[in-house]
Amino acid sequence: MAAEGKDREFDFTDDSFNRIREFVTEHTGIVLSDGKKDMVYGRLSKRIRKGGFGSFDAFCDALDAGDEEQQDFMINAITTNLTSFFRENHHFEYLSDTVIPELMKQKRQHKRIRIWSAGCSTGEEPYSIAITLRESIANIDDWDIKILATDLDANVVAHGKAGIYRKDRIDGLDEQRVKRWFRQGKGEQSDMVKVSPQLQQMITFKRLNLLHQWPMKGQFDFMFCRNVVIYFDKDTQRVLFDRYADILAPQTHLFIGHSETLYKVSDRFDSLGKTIYRKNS
Ligand SMILES: C[S@@+](CC[C@H](N)C(=O)[O-])C[C@H]1O[C@@H](n2cnc3c(N)ncnc32)[C@H](O)[C@@H]1O
Repeated sequence: MAAEGKDREFDFTDDSFNRIREFVTEHTGIVLSDGKKDMVYGRLSKRIRKGGFGSFDAFCDALDAGDEEQQDFMINAITTNLTSFFRENHHFEYLSDTVIPELMKQKRQHKRIRIWSAGCSTGEEPYSIAITLRESIANIDDWDIKILATDLDANVVAHGKAGIYRKDRIDGLDEQRVKRWFRQGKGEQSDMVKVSPQLQQMITFKRLNLLHQWPMKGQFDFMFCRNVVIYFDKDTQRVLFDRYADILAPQTHLFIGHSETLYKVSDRFDSLGKTIYRKNS
C-alpha cells in the first residue's frame, strides 16, 4: 500500500492528482474517484523516481506537453486488464447455442462473419470467441470469419497478438479443449502455453482508443464490450453505445460485463437477460 501524506517519497498534492485525473478521463474515459489517490501514487512513484522527474508536478508537465512515452505509460498504468479464458461462460454458451446457429443460417450465401472484441485486454476474450466458433462450425474453413480485437493499452495488445500465456491461466478449462487449442511450451517455456495458429489466424489485434475515431468501415455481426465502460461516466457510455449501435448490423448481439447495464444508457438495444443485448432495428 502507498505511504500516506508526509511519509511519501514525493509530494502528491490534490492539484497534481487532479491534473492526472483530467488527463486520464480525457484520454481513456476512465473517471478516477477521490479514493484512487493512493493507487495512482503507488503506480506512478517508481516512474517519477526512475525517470528523474523529481516531482509529480514535473511528470504532469511532461503529460501536458504531449510526451508520448509518459502518456502511454500513464494510460497503461491506470487501465485494469483483469480477464480470463471463458470469463462469464454463459456468454459463450449463448454464442454456440443461439447466435452462431442463427448466423450460419442468415449468412449461408456469403459465409462472411465479422466480430469485434472491444477492450480485449490480453486476448483471452477473443481467443475464447475463436474457440467457440471453431467448436460450433464444422466446416469453418469454408467460411470467411474474422475477429477484430482492440484495446487502448499497447502492452496487452502485444500480449494478445503473441498468444502466449502462463499455464495456470488455462487451469479451469476442459482437458479436451486444452489439448485441441493450446500448445505446451518446452524447456524453459514449460510453464507456458501458446494458442494454436488456427485461432491466431482468425484474430487481428489492434491498438484502438474507443473514444477516438474508428478506422473500421464495415458492420459487425456481433460484439463483446465487457468490463470496459465500468469506470466511464454515463455520458461517455451513452455516446459509445450509440456508436456501437451504428457499427453493428441490424438485429445483432452485444455482450457487456456482468456489472454493467444499458438501462438509461441506450434504447437502441433490447435486453435478453444475463447482460446480453440485441440491437432493436
Ligand atoms: C477489465 S479489462 C476487460 C477485458 C475483457 N473484455 C474481459 O471482460 O475479460 C478492460 C480493458 O478495457 C481497456 N480500456 C479501458 N479504457 C479504454 C478505452 N478508452 N479504449 C479502449 N480500451 C479501453 C483496458 O485497457 C482493459 O484492457
